[in-house]
Amino acid sequence: MKKLPFSLVVLSLFSGLLSAQNPDPEVEKKAAELLQSMTIQEKIGQLCQVNGAYGGIPEELGKQVREGRAGSILNEVDTKTLNELQRIAVEESRLGIPLIFARDVIHGFRTILPIPLGQAATWNPELVERGAHIAAVEAASAGLHWTFAPMIDICRDPRWGRIAESLGEDPFLASELGVAMVRGFQGESLADKGAIAACAKHFVGYGAAEGGRDYNSANIPENELYNIYLPPFKACADAGVATFMPTFNDVNGVPASGNPFLFRKVLREDWGFNGFVVSDWESVRQLTVHGVAADNKEAARQATLAGIDMEMASTTYADHLLELVEQGAVPEAVVDEAVRNILRVKLQLGLFEHPYTDPSDFPALANDAHRAVAEQAALQSCVLLRNDGQALPLEAGKLQRLALIGPLADDPYEQLGTWIFDGDPQHTVTPLAALRTALGDKASVQFVKALETSRSRSQAAFPDAVRAAREADAVVLFLGEESILSGEAHSRAHLGLPGAQLELIKAVAETGKPIITVVMAGRPLALGPALEYSDALLFAWHPGTMGGPAIARLLLGLESPSGKLPVTFPTTAGQIPMYYNHKNTGKPATEESYIHIDDIPVRAPQTSVGNTSYYLDAGYKPLFPFGFGLSYSQFEYRNLRLREPAVSPGDTLVVMVELANTGNYEAEEVAQLYIRDVVSSIARPVKELKGFQRIRLKPGESRTATFHLPTEHLAYYYPGKGWMAEPGQFEIFVGGDSDTGFKVSCEIR
Ligand code: GLC
Repeated sequence: MKKLPFSLVVLSLFSGLLSAQNPDPEVEKKAAELLQSMTIQEKIGQLCQVNGAYGGIPEELGKQVREGRAGSILNEVDTKTLNELQRIAVEESRLGIPLIFARDVIHGFRTILPIPLGQAATWNPELVERGAHIAAVEAASAGLHWTFAPMIDICRDPRWGRIAESLGEDPFLASELGVAMVRGFQGESLADKGAIAACAKHFVGYGAAEGGRDYNSANIPENELYNIYLPPFKACADAGVATFMPTFNDVNGVPASGNPFLFRKVLREDWGFNGFVVSDWESVRQLTVHGVAADNKEAARQATLAGIDMEMASTTYADHLLELVEQGAVPEAVVDEAVRNILRVKLQLGLFEHPYTDPSDFPALANDAHRAVAEQAALQSCVLLRNDGQALPLEAGKLQRLALIGPLADDPYEQLGTWIFDGDPQHTVTPLAALRTALGDKASVQFVKALETSRSRSQAAFPDAVRAAREADAVVLFLGEESILSGEAHSRAHLGLPGAQLELIKAVAETGKPIITVVMAGRPLALGPALEYSDALLFAWHPGTMGGPAIARLLLGLESPSGKLPVTFPTTAGQIPMYYNHKNTGKPATEESYIHIDDIPVRAPQTSVGNTSYYLDAGYKPLFPFGFGLSYSQFEYRNLRLREPAVSPGDTLVVMVELANTGNYEAEEVAQLYIRDVVSSIARPVKELKGFQRIRLKPGESRTATFHLPTEHLAYYYPGKGWMAEPGQFEIFVGGDSDTGFKVSCEIR
């Protein structure tokens, strides 16, 4: 039987109380009074989250609530049922403690925004915050109090299906956008109407699942843990996120749901987090499956001592915690602390004063204002990856016949993406519908689905597609992945376009018409073969309810694409992991050093001299780098300079660059600032994102962008030493992606 260092538990309880972020005395007093009046059974009841019955109240569920054996219900969204469950809790249970109702509102409730990976491509915290706010208002109008979002797992592996709900590969971008989502969900105060509690998940390292295979082990060395995977969670904890959720994985061999280092040491003792922690679905019981707990009782003991306050779906707390407390295996003080954490959030939400929901107090679901935010998010999420010969934008004035071909041009459900429990395809506007509306009688829009789904292999309808292409002035292919091919438990070993989609592109390309390809997917895809036949390629992720109008505006040039990749696109799955903030290694590849597999002389002798790091058959460069995205216009960076060439710790480095729109379109550019510590006591990445600005310029207009970089942002976590910005030379890069840009050097004294 594993023994948890008691000192760790006691210390974290004590420090959690002392270092609680801005404790509200009134809330603490009320929580303490409630706690004192509770029986141990009622305390344990608060730690149990029960799955709803999707619109009804089975007798056992009603009884659980009435007897105070449930503290939270998830997955119930029928307002009448929620109010009745709450009535039972508040009016029929002994202490009348309200329930907290939860649901995965990951990228929208009824109005569906682009998948989070698509929202990350906007590089627009303010817009992401607005999106989370409308999601919160819609969820709250149904009677929900809590969402299990933002998901801020850093991911460098597009095989992993949940990359779709992540904010990409970079800790700085994921921190900025994760905090924006927390602000959007929680507002200024959790008690505000339309505010719901957010949840930072999945703590920590879910995106590092080995092989990109969901739920697999995550082995993360200390330097990567602190420099890559923890920062977004620390940022959300500092931003006041109300709850945390553990990852399913074992992290360095210790499953997160039984991992006191994560939840007692890092989260409570180091960060002073004072919200509460909910397990993932049955992740407490799964400690027996991981093989670290002999039975459910031991799983309950490990999880409570490790700092998992509330158990989702499995019932080890309900079944064994009383006995564990009576036996002294779990101090009642540990249970008290968990209950206090939960009561604190319920009090902050105002559930005691306002336990019930009247939807008429809220704006209508999927109203025009909400759809407008969703459209703007979709517009700014689309990334233009290729545009040879200015194939885009389409010139509506010259367009007479437009052919839309492919399984994703008119699929209201698939374009919503994964994790859209409460989305409604009825509200979706597809690209076909939007283009027909936009073009009106100015041009005909012919649609040939050609493939029933993204996985279809039948080419029977290809002749219809080829015919439509021949008759058209312009051809737009809508390809990619059905939404179910990404998301939880849906990892892929291959990243190509599924089914016979590549064959479809080839067949249509034989007409000789310019091919414009729009890809909807939940992950980066190996687009190389598709690009061979595409004059232009727009990557739209799964763009949500209003993806159609957004894509139509971009294709017709009413807006220029402005999205930038939040994740590297590898040429093939074999390159993974491939990410921009890699170490230089001692033998980095160069154009000169790379030899393609076909170019190796027959019987070339084995050498150990002059070798460098690359794949014989896949090189060393991604298909598209992190931060990449084209525009219809062109931007020039000029006159990169520092206010001071050298700064001391505690100063702020001021970086200025002139950005000019030298093209013919009004457009937005995301100027990105990266740093590099040239010499460091451990190898640091060749680039680290530390700032970005989305700037809109008219043709010919230019503007000076100024970045303020506190020296602590130059810091790095050194195992065994902590965070430091070591003195010495740093390089500062500013440009339109992680691979280009101008460089200037500065000195930390
Ligand atoms: C799922 C997911 C988690 C989600 C929870 C409730 O398995 O891992 O992200 O919030 O269960 O649906």
